[in-house]
Amino acid sequence: MKNNFYITTPIYYVNDRPHIGHAYTSVACDVLARFNRLCGKHVKFLTGTDEHGQKVEKSAAASGVKPQEFVDKVSQTFRDLADLMNISNDDFIRTTEPRHKKAAQALWQKMQANGHIYLGAYSGWYSVRDEAYYQESELVNGKAPTGAEVEWVEEPSYFFNLSQWGDKLLEFYEKNPNFIMPESRRNEIISFVKGGLKDLSISRTTFSWGIPIPVSQAGDEKHIMYVWLDALTNYLSALGYPDEGAVDYQDFWQNSYSMHMVGKDIIRFHAVYWPAFLMAADLPLPKRIFAHGWWTIEGEKMSKSLGNTVIPADLVAEFGLDQTRWFLMREVPFGNDGNFSRERMVAVINSELANNIGNLAQRTLSMVAKNCGGKVPNADGVEKDELDMSFLYNIYVTEANTPQDIENRYMNCKFNDIMADIVTIASEANNYIDSKAPWKQKKTDERLMNATLYHLLEGIRCIAIMIQPFIPDSAVKILDLLAVPANERGFSHLSYDFALKAGAELPPPEPVFPRFMEKTV
Ligand code: MSP
Repeated sequence: MKNNFYITTPIYYVNDRPHIGHAYTSVACDVLARFNRLCGKHVKFLTGTDEHGQKVEKSAAASGVKPQEFVDKVSQTFRDLADLMNISNDDFIRTTEPRHKKAAQALWQKMQANGHIYLGAYSGWYSVRDEAYYQESELVNGKAPTGAEVEWVEEPSYFFNLSQWGDKLLEFYEKNPNFIMPESRRNEIISFVKGGLKDLSISRTTFSWGIPIPVSQAGDEKHIMYVWLDALTNYLSALGYPDEGAVDYQDFWQNSYSMHMVGKDIIRFHAVYWPAFLMAADLPLPKRIFAHGWWTIEGEKMSKSLGNTVIPADLVAEFGLDQTRWFLMREVPFGNDGNFSRERMVAVINSELANNIGNLAQRTLSMVAKNCGGKVPNADGVEKDELDMSFLYNIYVTEANTPQDIENRYMNCKFNDIMADIVTIASEANNYIDSKAPWKQKKTDERLMNATLYHLLEGIRCIAIMIQPFIPDSAVKILDLLAVPANERGFSHLSYDFALKAGAELPPPEPVFPRFMEKTV
């Protein structure tokens, strides 16, 4: 249990071109997946595409192609996004796959067999953009509270008895205070559930692009599953459900720490509907739902009509992959809304990557190449002064910064704090060089210069291990420049026990983070 970690992104609607909002969720999950792997955990990281429903059906029609052809094409752009952003997902689920249809129908059957589904008729408001039902009282100036258009729908429909689950949900939130994070979202969900839940319409009959419900009586052939019930099941279908004996199901649902990462707009589906469906089917619940905030672009809402959509491929082409990943995770405390500004991006990647971490590696490695014959220098026999001691204390995992502390910060998605601390360590290392001035030590006592450079290499080694979840390619590049063995790059190697060996041969230094220069016209 302690060693299995399951992390999922929301599955992306295939009506849209991938933008930074999608890249953001995926990179955050990737950071968690990579961190947990580097701690030696058994990790499954799932992403994929949400391909059914009226919204997708309409987009396909607007493109003049059959839905299947349309979803095949757009789903591929999300796979490409994962490759582009260096996302280390272990699987990619599509809701049009047979394994998923089977799982969604099985979940329905289980909920129905347990007596939680009944036939009725729905009449009310529906928003195709949100794929959500709204009550009259929720509408604002005739629109959904999200600003989306709504339409009146009247049709035969199956219902899930959501109204029966309020107390059980509240009890569950109470017993599991970290189930919904951050706290503000947890409070929002608790007050929503306390406000009373209505039964949920879970089938549609007025269009056909979806998973047919299992037929149990005449007329059922017309019903397709509500797209959110269909979509949420993806988290189980990728684990082999309904085969509860499947190894992945056992490892990652039954006996794991499982976490769904979502945007704040879809927290209700994940923190209310999903646990209720699971309880209704007697299945275990995930351990955590974390909702992140939304990006605006240069102060404005990102939207197709404003034409200000930020495309990840453009950022990667202009600034570099790791620079983009760094900025996305660094700029705003995870959970808060944030603003994307080009100016900030340039400032952050230049000051933190190029001028700080990159400069530290470059100055140190080139001094080692020039003055130590390209080998790890020897620090033995030089007594450490206070400056050395406090520098070394900060870079290693210590009682003030235990592996448990590090894990908690990651699992609570404190990404920008973690990164700020890494930046501080790098700044201190740069100050350490300036105070020690190894170029002067060289003239007075070479042993002192060797010791200083050795400590700096150790600092860089630890920084490179720590940045791996965020910027894996650059981290590998630095670890390679330090000739750190491949099996000594985990978080358990952040200690003196795995320190670099004096005399080890190092490859010729190379710059890792170029400084970004605005092109002048
Ligand atoms: N298909 C559903 C999820 C089903 S999960 C069982 C969906 N898809 S989506 O493509 O519309 O959105 C996917 C994710 O992208 C959501 O978590 C959403 O919050 C996120 N973002 C979309 N635009 C965003 C920003 N501008 N900023 C940050 N994230 C945003 O919802």
